[in-house]
Order: sequence, then C-alpha cells, then structure tokens
Amino acid sequence: MELRISEKAKSISPSPTLAIDSKFKQMKQQGIPVVGFGAGEPDFDTPDNIKEAGITAIQENFTRYTPASGTIDLKRAICCKVKADTGLEYTTDNVIVCNGGKHALTNTFMAILNPGDEVIIPAPYWVSYPEMVKMADGVPVYIDTKEEDDFKFSIAQLKAACTEKTRALVLNTPSNPTGMVYNEEELKAIAEFAVAHQIYIIFDEIYEKLIYEGKHVNIATLNDEARKLTIIINGMAKTYAMTGWRIGYAVAEAPIIKAMSNIQSHATSNPNSIAQRASVEAINGDQSIIDVMKQEYVKRRDYMVERINSIDGLSCRVPHGAFYIFMNVKEVLNKEHYGKMIRTASDLCEDILERALVAMVPSEGFGIDGYVRLSYATSMEVIQTGLDRIEAYLQGKCTK
Ligand SMILES: Cc1ncc(COP(=O)(O)O)c(C=O)c1O
Repeated sequence: MELRISEKAKSISPSPTLAIDSKFKQMKQQGIPVVGFGAGEPDFDTPDNIKEAGITAIQENFTRYTPASGTIDLKRAICCKVKADTGLEYTTDNVIVCNGGKHALTNTFMAILNPGDEVIIPAPYWVSYPEMVKMADGVPVYIDTKEEDDFKFSIAQLKAACTEKTRALVLNTPSNPTGMVYNEEELKAIAEFAVAHQIYIIFDEIYEKLIYEGKHVNIATLNDEARKLTIIINGMAKTYAMTGWRIGYAVAEAPIIKAMSNIQSHATSNPNSIAQRASVEAINGDQSIIDVMKQEYVKRRDYMVERINSIDGLSCRVPHGAFYIFMNVKEVLNKEHYGKMIRTASDLCEDILERALVAMVPSEGFGIDGYVRLSYATSMEVIQTGLDRIEAYLQGKCTK
C-alpha cells in the first residue's frame, strides 16, 4: 500500500544543516575520529545561574501549563530587554514566547500570509526560511547577492523583486550563513522601502549579541512606520548557549501577536514552563557569558580567516557577526580530486567528509553555489585539526 503524503509535505525539503550534523554525530558514535564544522550551536554550556533557575522551577512545581503565548514574567523581561537595547517601548501584548526562534518564524508566516503571497528572501539565506514560507502557503522570492557586495542586496534589487503580491521581506543580521552585518544607513534605506511599499520586515536578530565589529541596529528603531511593520525574531539559543531549551520569541504589533498566539494555542500550547523560568534568569541575570563567548569566538574567527586565506584554492571574507565562515571553494571545483570529478560544493563536502573526516555544510542549501559554511562554535583544537585535514586533502595527501 502506498502511504499518502500531502503535496505540501512533499514540497518541503529536510534541513541540510541538521542532516550533516546527524551524519557527523552518527560517524562519531561509530568511533570514527571525525571533526565537525557543521553545527549551528554554541559549544559552551548553559551558564549555571540559568540551569539553577530551571532546577528551582522544577522543585517549585512550576511544571504545569502556562498561558499559551508565554508567561507574563518572561514577556515582561523581554519588553525590558528590548527597551534597554533599543529604547523601543512594547507591552506584553506585543510579545509571544515560542518553542525557539524557528517556531516564532513559522508562527509569523502562518499569521501574515495568504496563499500565493510572496516573501522576499535574500540569498544566501538561512536554510529554513523558504521551507517555512512554503509551509504557510506563501511563495519565496529570492534576491541573489554577491560576495563582492559582502552578500548584501541593493534597494534596486529589492525594487525588482517586489510585486503587488509581496507581503514581507526577511532580514537576518548578523547573517547565517555569511556573518555579514547590515549597517544603519543600509537598514534605513530598507526601512524606507518597506514603508513605501507597506511590506512587513521579518527582522531575525537571533545573533545580535554575537557581533565583533560595528554595532547591531534594530531596524524598528529607524522610523515609527517601520516599527509598525517590523516583526522582531529573537531567542535564547545563541546568546545564552541554550539551544536545547527551545525558547524564542517575536515582538510586533499586537494584532499580529494575537494571531500568532491563536495559532500556537492550537499547535503546541505553551513553550516549556521550566525553560521559560530559566529564560527569565537568562535575560535578567548576569550577562558576562556573552563577553566570554565573544572573546573566544573572535579568536577562532581570526585564526580561521587567516588560515583559510593561506590555503591554495580557498578564500573567505571576514565575517563581522554570528559564528560562521562562508568559504569560497570555487577554485577547487570542476577539478579531479583523488581521481574523482568534484563539481559542486556538495560533492566536495561529501568527499572531504569521507576522506579527510571533516564535516562542513555545502552552500547549495543556502541558495548559492560554490561555498561551504564552517561554524566556529567549536573548540580551537577541532578548528586546527579540521583545517589541517582540509589543507592535506587539497594537497592530495589523504590516504583514503
Ligand atoms: C538565522 C537563524 N534564525 C533563527 C534560528 C532559530 O534558532 P532556535 O530555533 O534554535 O531558537 C537559527 C538557528 O540556527 C538561525 O540560524
């Protein structure tokens, strides 16, 4: 019997980053000495004060349903955090707490899109955006950006992509996968465009605290009209090394938040009560972990950028935020390596994983060819070993 799967489900491709990560973990489990640059998660532990808040929540039996859209305490903490960071005043009616930033995004698309509505997504993009838009019956429309433009799009490109069906633009700064950061002037121009065309700005700032040069600017601060159109997406995962706790949030105009809350109330109910308590501590408590992580990330980044640019055939730009290097591998493609034709970044990643035991994410899943994403949310030791192996592979020194 053929099991029936919906057309919508068939159109959704699995997350390539999670696929690489699970292959890497499987190889590791089999005792293969593989090293990984694939994971999009901090290698730091969740800080003790946050863990303790979670433990106390359990001991105090804070283990029941909370309001579906999140606890008032956490929403208040989020409002205070946003006010402190941006000066913007929001009330708890402007906030929804979700099961991760990913869930905040899927709720957003479900709340704002009608079938056939278009969402502009600059490429390279984080792998999940197009699939999320499709899940909400929307149509992703891509803007291709170039390395020589720092992977940033122009207003002319935005104009060309915009139609009367355009409902939203996704903006991710600092960016996964490129690490690029939009500056105030660029954001101002984008905000003005969004206001002129009345399109939502889905402002994914999940890496906002991991910024090494320049500063993060929230687009909602740039004009009041833009604020009304902005749906801020953020979460605990990257800033506080809390990937497994699954808490993210959205901040936007109250009717949008209400629609998202209605959807969430039927789909998942509240996010985990214990993780919500821990998130209050994350936001209100000691913030020193952020600087500790940043200092470590910047050391790793600098080492990687220098090393990669010294390897024949590889190059990369300096990423200013997040924890990814987007490495240009075009020079080593369409060539034979170890007697085998390597045409694409996927071919290369597969061969390097097999022969050199290094896991990396090829760029096809990010909507661009010829690049490989390396996460530096991993130890310096792993970084050194991994780059040594990649260099040896490219010099034909692998024995496999
Ligand atoms: C750009 C971007 N947005 C959102 C998320 C969602 O993070 P989470 O669902 O773990 O909060 C991620 C995670 O990798 C990301 O890279």
